[in-house]
Amino acid sequence: MEKILFNEFEIRNNVKQLGEMISTDYKLSDTIVVIGILKGAFMFTSDLVKNISVPSLIDFVEVKSYKGTESNGKPELTKDLTISVQGKDVILVDGIIDTGYTLDFLIKYLRSKGANTVKTAVLLDKKCKRKVPVKVNYCCFEIEDKFVVGYGMDYLQLYRNIPYIKEL
Ligand code: IMP
Ligand code: MG
Repeated sequence: MEKILFNEFEIRNNVKQLGEMISTDYKLSDTIVVIGILKGAFMFTSDLVKNISVPSLIDFVEVKSYKGTESNGKPELTKDLTISVQGKDVILVDGIIDTGYTLDFLIKYLRSKGANTVKTAVLLDKKCKRKVPVKVNYCCFEIEDKFVVGYGMDYLQLYRNIPYIKEL
């Protein structure tokens, strides 16, 4: 039997709240840059930005470090930014933070590209799996050490189109 962790209703509610928090926190910014991490964050990024009322530039990067269900700890940028982040306030969006290697790598990368500030927004936080410290500024749900799929997240590239989140 399939084990649904978060249904569409719960996801929609929490994503909306996160978008509203971001809108409040950045209400004085003239523009922000929202960067989704492909492919896992494509659905979350799309729903999140619909709930952000601050003028937003939207971009995507792609990072790979996973083989099956295990991180190899060495993230690699496989698709770069197409928008300049120089002097900009950036929100980096991932579907899930696990070891932290991906976000740690990208935060440093964005700083090296001259971003003014970099904050992180994640749908799911697997806190117990962290190997490097990363500040998670906005989070929808904390989860235990379970491999999850759906709402953009995959196992061997499958299940991304499931509109809710379930245990593999
Ligand atoms: P980290 O670098 O270990 O923090 O992992 C972040 C990336 O690992 C995410 O962007 C996902 O692509 C992938 N990932 C980690 N845990 C899961 C999971 O439970 N299901 C699907 N992908 C996961
Ligand atoms: Mg993956």
